[in-house]
Amino acid sequence: MNNFHYHNPTHIVFGKDTIATLADLIPADKKIILIYGGGSIKKNGVYDQVAAALKGRIAVEFAGIEPNPLYETCMDAVKLIKDKKIDFILAVGGGSVIDGSKFIAAAACYNGEPWDILAKGGEVKAALPLGTVLTLPATGTEMNGNSVISRKSSDEKLAFYSPKVYPAFSILDPETTYSLPKNQLRNGIVDAFVHVMEQYATYSVETPLQDRQAEAVVNTLVEISGRVLTQEKDYNASASFVWCTTQALNGLINCGVVQDWATHMIGHELTAFFGLAHAESLAIVLPGLWKHQLAHKQDKLAQLGERVWNIKSGSSKEKAQAAIDATVKFFHSVKMPTTLKDYNISAADIQKVVTRFKERGTVLGEHQNITWKEVEEILTLCL
Ligand code: NZQ
Ligand code: ZN
Repeated sequence: MNNFHYHNPTHIVFGKDTIATLADLIPADKKIILIYGGGSIKKNGVYDQVAAALKGRIAVEFAGIEPNPLYETCMDAVKLIKDKKIDFILAVGGGSVIDGSKFIAAAACYNGEPWDILAKGGEVKAALPLGTVLTLPATGTEMNGNSVISRKSSDEKLAFYSPKVYPAFSILDPETTYSLPKNQLRNGIVDAFVHVMEQYATYSVETPLQDRQAEAVVNTLVEISGRVLTQEKDYNASASFVWCTTQALNGLINCGVVQDWATHMIGHELTAFFGLAHAESLAIVLPGLWKHQLAHKQDKLAQLGERVWNIKSGSSKEKAQAAIDATVKFFHSVKMPTTLKDYNISAADIQKVVTRFKERGTVLGEHQNITWKEVEEILTLCL
Protein backbone atom coordinates (compact mmCIF):
# COMPACT_ATOMS: atom_id res chain seq x y z
CA MET A 1 0.00 0.00 0.00
CA ASN A 2 1.30 3.49 -0.89
CA ASN A 3 1.58 6.34 1.62
CA PHE A 4 -1.33 8.78 1.73
CA HIS A 5 -2.90 11.78 3.42
CA TYR A 6 -6.61 11.60 4.13
CA HIS A 7 -8.41 14.74 5.21
CA ASN A 8 -11.92 15.58 4.09
CA PRO A 9 -13.27 18.75 5.71
CA THR A 10 -16.73 18.74 4.09
CA HIS A 11 -19.63 18.47 6.53
CA ILE A 12 -22.32 16.28 4.94
CA VAL A 13 -25.94 16.84 5.90
CA PHE A 14 -27.84 13.91 4.40
CA GLY A 15 -31.54 13.13 4.13
CA LYS A 16 -35.13 14.34 3.75
CA ASP A 17 -36.02 17.96 4.51
CA THR A 18 -32.39 18.87 5.25
CA ILE A 19 -32.40 22.03 3.13
CA ALA A 20 -34.16 23.65 6.08
CA THR A 21 -30.89 23.42 8.06
CA LEU A 22 -29.17 25.97 5.79
CA ALA A 23 -29.73 28.84 8.20
CA ASP A 24 -27.67 27.07 10.88
CA LEU A 25 -24.91 26.04 8.48
CA ILE A 26 -24.06 29.51 7.15
CA PRO A 27 -22.71 31.93 9.78
CA ALA A 28 -25.18 34.77 10.40
CA ASP A 29 -22.70 37.54 9.56
CA LYS A 30 -22.04 36.29 6.02
CA LYS A 31 -23.15 38.15 2.91
CA ILE A 32 -24.41 35.35 0.67
CA ILE A 33 -24.50 34.93 -3.11
CA LEU A 34 -26.78 32.15 -4.38
CA ILE A 35 -25.38 30.57 -7.55
CA TYR A 36 -27.44 28.21 -9.68
CA GLY A 37 -27.86 26.88 -13.21
CA GLY A 38 -30.48 27.12 -15.93
CA GLY A 39 -33.52 27.05 -13.67
CA SER A 40 -34.22 23.40 -12.76
CA ILE A 41 -34.24 24.48 -9.09
CA LYS A 42 -37.11 26.86 -9.77
CA LYS A 43 -39.19 24.04 -11.30
CA ASN A 44 -38.62 21.36 -8.66
CA GLY A 45 -39.14 23.45 -5.55
CA VAL A 46 -35.51 23.45 -4.39
CA TYR A 47 -35.16 27.22 -4.90
CA ASP A 48 -38.25 27.82 -2.74
CA GLN A 49 -36.87 25.57 0.01
CA VAL A 50 -33.54 27.45 -0.04
CA ALA A 51 -35.25 30.85 0.03
CA ALA A 52 -37.53 29.75 2.88
CA ALA A 53 -34.61 28.40 4.91
CA LEU A 54 -32.55 31.57 4.54
CA LYS A 55 -35.46 34.04 5.00
CA GLY A 56 -34.15 37.09 3.16
CA ARG A 57 -30.47 36.45 3.92
CA ILE A 58 -29.46 36.01 0.25
CA ALA A 59 -27.82 39.29 -0.79
CA VAL A 60 -27.59 38.53 -4.49
CA GLU A 61 -28.33 35.75 -6.98
CA PHE A 62 -26.34 34.60 -10.01
CA ALA A 63 -28.16 32.25 -12.39
CA GLY A 64 -27.08 30.66 -15.65
CA ILE A 65 -24.08 28.45 -14.87
CA GLU A 66 -24.30 26.08 -17.84
CA PRO A 67 -23.59 22.32 -18.03
CA ASN A 68 -19.79 22.08 -18.48
CA PRO A 69 -19.46 25.48 -16.79
CA LEU A 70 -17.83 28.22 -18.80
CA TYR A 71 -14.94 30.34 -17.60
CA GLU A 72 -16.56 33.32 -19.30
CA THR A 73 -19.78 32.93 -17.24
CA CYS A 74 -17.88 32.30 -14.02
CA MET A 75 -15.91 35.51 -14.49
CA ASP A 76 -19.20 37.49 -14.65
CA ALA A 77 -20.03 36.04 -11.23
CA VAL A 78 -16.57 37.00 -9.90
CA LYS A 79 -17.23 40.61 -10.94
CA LEU A 80 -20.59 40.61 -9.17
CA ILE A 81 -19.03 39.16 -6.01
CA LYS A 82 -16.36 41.86 -5.95
CA ASP A 83 -18.89 44.65 -6.64
CA LYS A 84 -21.24 43.49 -3.88
CA LYS A 85 -18.50 42.50 -1.40
CA ILE A 86 -19.86 38.97 -1.02
CA ASP A 87 -18.13 36.66 1.45
CA PHE A 88 -20.06 33.35 1.17
CA ILE A 89 -21.07 31.31 -1.89
CA LEU A 90 -24.07 29.00 -1.79
CA ALA A 91 -24.09 26.72 -4.87
CA VAL A 92 -27.38 24.96 -5.59
CA GLY A 93 -27.43 22.46 -8.43
CA GLY A 94 -25.45 19.72 -10.14
CA GLY A 95 -21.74 19.24 -10.69
CA SER A 96 -21.50 22.14 -13.11
CA VAL A 97 -22.96 24.68 -10.69
CA ILE A 98 -20.75 23.42 -7.87
CA ASP A 99 -17.59 23.24 -10.01
CA GLY A 100 -18.30 26.71 -11.39
CA SER A 101 -18.78 28.00 -7.85
CA LYS A 102 -15.48 26.46 -6.71
CA PHE A 103 -13.66 28.22 -9.52
CA ILE A 104 -15.49 31.47 -8.73
CA ALA A 105 -14.53 31.09 -5.04
CA ALA A 106 -10.87 30.74 -6.00
CA ALA A 107 -10.88 33.34 -8.79
CA ALA A 108 -12.42 35.98 -6.50
CA CYS A 109 -9.33 35.78 -4.27
CA TYR A 110 -6.68 35.24 -6.98
CA ASN A 111 -3.98 37.76 -7.78
CA GLY A 112 -3.49 37.63 -11.53
CA GLU A 113 -5.37 35.99 -14.42
CA PRO A 114 -7.65 33.31 -12.92
CA TRP A 115 -7.47 31.12 -16.05
CA ASP A 116 -3.89 30.40 -14.96
CA ILE A 117 -5.32 28.32 -12.07
CA LEU A 118 -6.51 25.88 -14.74
CA ALA A 119 -3.99 26.33 -17.53
CA LYS A 120 -0.77 26.88 -15.59
CA GLY A 121 -1.41 25.25 -12.23
CA GLY A 122 -1.56 28.70 -10.53
CA GLU A 123 -1.64 28.16 -6.77
CA VAL A 124 -4.94 28.84 -5.01
CA LYS A 125 -3.76 30.52 -1.83
CA ALA A 126 -7.26 31.51 -0.69
CA ALA A 127 -10.88 31.03 -1.69
CA LEU A 128 -14.24 32.32 -0.49
CA PRO A 129 -16.09 29.82 1.70
CA LEU A 130 -18.60 27.72 -0.19
CA GLY A 131 -21.59 25.58 0.77
CA THR A 132 -23.64 23.42 -1.57
CA VAL A 133 -27.06 21.89 -2.05
CA LEU A 134 -26.55 19.03 -4.50
CA THR A 135 -29.37 18.20 -6.93
CA LEU A 136 -27.63 15.74 -9.28
CA PRO A 137 -25.74 12.71 -7.95
CA ALA A 138 -22.81 12.04 -10.30
CA THR A 139 -19.56 13.92 -9.94
CA GLY A 140 -18.67 13.72 -6.25
CA THR A 141 -17.80 17.43 -6.37
CA GLU A 142 -19.95 18.00 -3.28
CA MET A 143 -17.25 16.36 -1.16
CA ASN A 144 -13.98 16.95 -2.99
CA GLY A 145 -11.58 19.72 -3.98
CA ASN A 146 -11.86 19.29 -7.77
CA SER A 147 -13.39 21.58 -10.35
CA VAL A 148 -13.57 21.28 -14.15
CA ILE A 149 -14.06 24.43 -16.22
CA SER A 150 -14.46 24.94 -19.97
CA ARG A 151 -13.42 27.93 -22.05
CA LYS A 152 -15.59 28.71 -25.02
CA SER A 153 -13.09 30.90 -26.83
CA SER A 154 -10.51 28.10 -27.09
CA ASP A 155 -12.58 24.86 -26.88
CA GLU A 156 -10.66 23.85 -23.74
CA LYS A 157 -11.87 21.90 -20.71
CA LEU A 158 -9.40 21.89 -17.82
CA ALA A 159 -9.44 20.78 -14.19
CA PHE A 160 -7.86 22.01 -10.99
CA TYR A 161 -7.66 20.69 -7.45
CA SER A 162 -7.22 22.75 -4.32
CA PRO A 163 -7.78 21.95 -0.66
CA LYS A 164 -9.17 25.52 -0.38
CA VAL A 165 -12.29 24.73 -2.43
CA TYR A 166 -13.72 21.75 -0.56
CA PRO A 167 -17.27 22.78 0.32
CA ALA A 168 -17.63 23.72 3.99
CA PHE A 169 -20.88 21.76 3.89
CA SER A 170 -23.01 19.91 1.37
CA ILE A 171 -26.68 19.16 1.79
CA LEU A 172 -27.65 15.89 0.10
CA ASP A 173 -31.43 15.50 0.06
CA PRO A 174 -32.25 12.49 -2.16
CA GLU A 175 -35.72 13.93 -2.83
CA THR A 176 -34.14 16.72 -4.91
CA THR A 177 -33.21 14.05 -7.48
CA TYR A 178 -36.82 13.04 -8.24
CA SER A 179 -37.08 15.68 -10.97
CA LEU A 180 -34.02 14.44 -12.88
CA PRO A 181 -34.67 13.27 -16.44
CA LYS A 182 -33.62 9.72 -17.31
CA ASN A 183 -30.54 10.77 -19.27
CA GLN A 184 -29.12 12.66 -16.27
CA LEU A 185 -29.78 9.69 -13.97
CA ARG A 186 -28.00 7.45 -16.48
CA ASN A 187 -25.12 9.96 -16.70
CA GLY A 188 -24.78 9.98 -12.92
CA ILE A 189 -24.65 6.18 -12.70
CA VAL A 190 -21.99 5.95 -15.41
CA ASP A 191 -19.88 8.87 -14.13
CA ALA A 192 -19.71 7.37 -10.63
CA PHE A 193 -18.99 3.89 -12.04
CA VAL A 194 -16.07 5.27 -14.05
CA HIS A 195 -14.77 7.29 -11.08
CA VAL A 196 -14.44 4.06 -9.14
CA MET A 197 -12.73 2.36 -12.06
CA GLU A 198 -10.16 5.15 -12.47
CA GLN A 199 -9.07 4.37 -8.91
CA TYR A 200 -9.39 0.59 -9.12
CA ALA A 201 -8.65 -0.82 -12.59
CA THR A 202 -4.91 -0.13 -12.53
CA TYR A 203 -2.43 -2.48 -10.84
CA SER A 204 -2.42 -3.83 -7.35
CA VAL A 205 -0.25 -2.50 -4.56
CA GLU A 206 -2.10 -4.79 -2.14
CA THR A 207 -4.96 -2.67 -0.90
CA PRO A 208 -7.62 -5.32 -0.18
CA LEU A 209 -9.79 -3.02 1.97
CA GLN A 210 -9.81 -0.19 -0.61
CA ASP A 211 -10.51 -2.74 -3.37
CA ARG A 212 -13.54 -4.03 -1.51
CA GLN A 213 -14.73 -0.50 -0.71
CA ALA A 214 -14.52 0.31 -4.43
CA GLU A 215 -16.32 -2.93 -5.36
CA ALA A 216 -19.02 -2.13 -2.79
CA VAL A 217 -19.71 1.19 -4.50
CA VAL A 218 -20.02 -0.31 -7.99
CA ASN A 219 -21.92 -3.38 -6.81
CA THR A 220 -24.43 -1.09 -5.14
CA LEU A 221 -24.69 1.14 -8.20
CA VAL A 222 -25.38 -1.89 -10.38
CA GLU A 223 -27.91 -3.26 -7.88
CA ILE A 224 -29.95 -0.04 -7.63
CA SER A 225 -29.60 1.32 -11.17
CA GLY A 226 -32.87 -0.28 -12.34
CA ARG A 227 -34.85 1.20 -9.43
CA VAL A 228 -33.23 4.62 -9.91
CA LEU A 229 -34.10 4.70 -13.62
CA THR A 230 -37.79 3.96 -13.09
CA GLN A 231 -38.14 7.52 -11.68
CA GLU A 232 -40.72 6.25 -9.22
CA LYS A 233 -39.71 8.40 -6.25
CA ASP A 234 -38.10 5.41 -4.59
CA TYR A 235 -36.50 7.18 -1.62
CA ASN A 236 -34.15 4.44 -0.47
CA ALA A 237 -32.88 3.75 -4.00
CA SER A 238 -32.28 7.48 -4.50
CA ALA A 239 -30.55 7.75 -1.13
CA SER A 240 -28.15 4.91 -1.95
CA PHE A 241 -27.56 6.39 -5.40
CA VAL A 242 -26.60 9.78 -3.93
CA TRP A 243 -24.29 8.23 -1.32
CA CYS A 244 -22.62 5.95 -3.90
CA THR A 245 -21.81 8.87 -6.17
CA THR A 246 -20.35 10.85 -3.27
CA GLN A 247 -18.28 7.89 -2.04
CA ALA A 248 -16.98 7.26 -5.55
CA LEU A 249 -14.95 10.47 -5.53
CA ASN A 250 -14.49 11.83 -2.03
CA GLY A 251 -10.95 10.58 -1.53
CA LEU A 252 -11.74 7.47 0.51
CA ILE A 253 -11.37 4.67 -2.03
CA ASN A 254 -8.17 6.14 -3.49
CA CYS A 255 -6.20 6.05 -0.22
CA GLY A 256 -2.88 4.34 -0.95
CA VAL A 257 -3.91 2.97 -4.35
CA VAL A 258 -2.56 3.56 -7.88
CA GLN A 259 -4.85 5.74 -9.98
CA ASP A 260 -5.35 6.18 -13.72
CA TRP A 261 -7.68 9.07 -14.88
CA ALA A 262 -6.73 8.69 -18.57
CA THR A 263 -10.38 8.01 -19.48
CA HIS A 264 -11.36 11.34 -17.93
CA MET A 265 -8.54 13.27 -19.62
CA ILE A 266 -9.43 11.90 -23.06
CA GLY A 267 -13.17 12.25 -22.34
CA HIS A 268 -12.78 15.93 -21.44
CA GLU A 269 -11.43 16.56 -24.95
CA LEU A 270 -14.43 14.79 -26.53
CA THR A 271 -16.68 17.14 -24.54
CA ALA A 272 -14.58 20.20 -25.44
CA PHE A 273 -14.61 19.48 -29.19
CA PHE A 274 -17.88 17.64 -29.78
CA GLY A 275 -20.15 18.72 -26.91
CA LEU A 276 -20.78 15.26 -25.44
CA ALA A 277 -22.04 15.17 -21.86
CA HIS A 278 -19.26 14.22 -19.45
CA ALA A 279 -20.53 10.68 -18.74
CA GLU A 280 -21.26 10.07 -22.44
CA SER A 281 -17.60 10.70 -23.20
CA LEU A 282 -16.45 8.32 -20.45
CA ALA A 283 -18.67 5.44 -21.60
CA ILE A 284 -16.99 5.62 -25.01
CA VAL A 285 -13.38 5.90 -23.87
CA LEU A 286 -13.32 3.42 -20.96
CA PRO A 287 -13.88 0.19 -22.96
CA GLY A 288 -11.41 1.23 -25.68
CA LEU A 289 -8.79 2.20 -23.13
CA TRP A 290 -9.23 -1.06 -21.24
CA LYS A 291 -8.87 -3.11 -24.43
CA HIS A 292 -5.72 -1.17 -25.35
CA GLN A 293 -4.20 -1.46 -21.86
CA LEU A 294 -5.41 -5.01 -21.17
CA ALA A 295 -1.94 -6.41 -20.49
CA HIS A 296 -1.35 -3.79 -17.78
CA LYS A 297 -4.80 -3.91 -16.21
CA GLN A 298 -5.53 -7.61 -16.57
CA ASP A 299 -5.29 -8.63 -12.91
CA LYS A 300 -7.60 -5.90 -11.61
CA LEU A 301 -10.05 -6.34 -14.49
CA ALA A 302 -10.18 -10.08 -13.79
CA GLN A 303 -10.91 -9.26 -10.13
CA LEU A 304 -13.67 -6.88 -11.26
CA GLY A 305 -15.03 -9.70 -13.38
CA GLU A 306 -15.07 -12.12 -10.49
CA ARG A 307 -16.36 -9.85 -7.76
CA VAL A 308 -18.73 -7.52 -9.60
CA TRP A 309 -19.78 -9.39 -12.75
CA ASN A 310 -19.70 -12.87 -11.25
CA ILE A 311 -17.35 -14.29 -13.90
CA LYS A 312 -15.97 -17.45 -12.33
CA SER A 313 -14.41 -19.41 -15.18
CA GLY A 314 -11.57 -18.90 -17.64
CA SER A 315 -8.00 -17.65 -17.44
CA SER A 316 -7.15 -14.27 -15.93
CA LYS A 317 -7.04 -12.77 -19.43
CA GLU A 318 -10.39 -14.29 -20.38
CA LYS A 319 -11.96 -13.00 -17.17
CA ALA A 320 -10.56 -9.52 -17.84
CA GLN A 321 -11.94 -9.53 -21.39
CA ALA A 322 -15.31 -10.77 -20.13
CA ALA A 323 -15.28 -7.96 -17.52
CA ILE A 324 -14.89 -5.37 -20.30
CA ASP A 325 -17.82 -6.93 -22.19
CA ALA A 326 -19.94 -7.03 -19.02
CA THR A 327 -19.19 -3.36 -18.31
CA VAL A 328 -20.27 -2.38 -21.82
CA LYS A 329 -23.43 -4.47 -21.37
CA PHE A 330 -24.12 -2.62 -18.11
CA PHE A 331 -23.73 0.76 -19.83
CA HIS A 332 -26.14 -0.40 -22.53
CA SER A 333 -28.59 -1.59 -19.85
CA VAL A 334 -28.84 1.99 -18.58
CA LYS A 335 -29.25 3.17 -22.20
CA MET A 336 -25.78 4.67 -22.48
CA PRO A 337 -24.15 4.51 -25.94
CA THR A 338 -20.52 3.32 -26.02
CA THR A 339 -19.08 4.22 -29.44
CA LEU A 340 -18.03 7.39 -31.26
CA LYS A 341 -20.23 6.30 -34.16
CA ASP A 342 -23.27 6.72 -31.90
CA TYR A 343 -22.51 10.47 -31.99
CA ASN A 344 -21.44 10.58 -35.66
CA ILE A 345 -17.81 11.20 -34.72
CA SER A 346 -15.47 9.84 -37.41
CA ALA A 347 -11.83 8.75 -37.61
CA ALA A 348 -11.04 12.12 -39.22
CA ASP A 349 -12.72 13.97 -36.32
CA ILE A 350 -10.61 12.27 -33.66
CA GLN A 351 -7.50 13.88 -35.13
CA LYS A 352 -8.52 17.10 -33.36
CA VAL A 353 -8.17 15.34 -30.01
CA VAL A 354 -4.95 13.60 -31.04
CA THR A 355 -3.41 16.90 -32.18
CA ARG A 356 -4.24 18.52 -28.87
CA PHE A 357 -2.45 15.78 -26.89
CA LYS A 358 0.48 16.03 -29.32
CA GLU A 359 0.72 19.81 -28.83
CA ARG A 360 0.50 19.57 -25.07
CA GLY A 361 2.87 16.60 -24.82
CA THR A 362 0.60 15.10 -22.17
CA VAL A 363 1.42 11.61 -20.91
CA LEU A 364 -1.42 9.65 -19.28
CA GLY A 365 -2.20 6.49 -17.34
CA GLU A 366 -0.89 4.73 -14.26
CA HIS A 367 2.22 3.68 -16.18
CA GLN A 368 2.56 7.05 -17.94
CA ASN A 369 2.63 5.08 -21.18
CA ILE A 370 -0.23 6.80 -23.03
CA THR A 371 1.07 9.53 -25.34
CA TRP A 372 -0.80 11.10 -28.28
CA LYS A 373 0.04 7.99 -30.32
CA GLU A 374 -1.74 5.69 -27.87
CA VAL A 375 -4.63 8.19 -27.61
CA GLU A 376 -5.05 7.79 -31.36
CA GLU A 377 -5.00 3.98 -31.07
CA ILE A 378 -7.45 4.05 -28.17
CA LEU A 379 -9.90 6.37 -29.94
CA THR A 380 -9.66 4.18 -33.04
CA LEU A 381 -10.84 1.27 -30.87
CA CYS A 382 -13.78 3.49 -29.78
CA LEU A 383 -15.08 4.21 -33.31
O1 NZQ B 1 -28.76 24.00 -15.02
P1 NZQ B 1 -30.01 23.42 -14.45
O2 NZQ B 1 -31.24 24.08 -14.88
O3 NZQ B 1 -29.92 23.27 -12.95
O4 NZQ B 1 -30.16 21.93 -15.06
C1 NZQ B 1 -29.20 20.91 -14.92
C2 NZQ B 1 -28.39 20.66 -16.19
O5 NZQ B 1 -29.10 21.03 -17.34
C3 NZQ B 1 -29.93 19.61 -14.75
N1 NZQ B 1 -30.29 19.31 -13.35
C4 NZQ B 1 -29.49 19.31 -12.25
N2 NZQ B 1 -30.19 18.90 -11.17
C5 NZQ B 1 -31.47 18.66 -11.59
C6 NZQ B 1 -31.53 18.92 -12.98
N3 NZQ B 1 -32.67 18.77 -13.69
C7 NZQ B 1 -33.76 18.35 -13.02
N4 NZQ B 1 -33.76 18.06 -11.69
C8 NZQ B 1 -32.64 18.20 -10.96
N5 NZQ B 1 -32.64 17.86 -9.65
O6 NZQ B 1 -29.02 18.62 -15.20
C9 NZQ B 1 -28.22 19.16 -16.24
C10 NZQ B 1 -26.79 18.71 -16.09
O7 NZQ B 1 -26.23 19.26 -14.92
P2 NZQ B 1 -24.65 19.23 -14.66
O8 NZQ B 1 -24.42 19.93 -13.37
O9 NZQ B 1 -23.94 19.73 -15.85
O10 NZQ B 1 -24.34 17.67 -14.54
P3 NZQ B 1 -23.29 16.89 -13.65
O11 NZQ B 1 -23.65 16.93 -12.22
O12 NZQ B 1 -23.15 15.58 -14.31
O13 NZQ B 1 -21.93 17.73 -13.79
C11 NZQ B 1 -21.10 17.61 -14.92
C12 NZQ B 1 -19.86 18.49 -14.77
O14 NZQ B 1 -19.05 18.04 -13.66
C13 NZQ B 1 -17.71 17.82 -14.11
C14 NZQ B 1 -17.92 17.42 -15.55
O15 NZQ B 1 -16.74 17.51 -16.31
C15 NZQ B 1 -18.99 18.39 -16.01
O16 NZQ B 1 -18.42 19.65 -16.32
N6 NZQ B 1 -17.04 16.86 -13.24
C16 NZQ B 1 -16.63 17.28 -12.03
C17 NZQ B 1 -15.92 16.48 -11.16
C18 NZQ B 1 -15.46 16.97 -9.85
N7 NZQ B 1 -15.58 18.26 -9.58
O17 NZQ B 1 -14.94 16.19 -9.05
C19 NZQ B 1 -15.56 15.10 -11.51
C20 NZQ B 1 -16.26 14.59 -12.71
O18 NZQ B 1 -15.43 13.60 -13.28
C21 NZQ B 1 -16.61 15.58 -13.75
O19 NZQ B 1 -15.48 15.83 -14.58
ZN1 ZN C 1 -16.33 12.05 -14.04
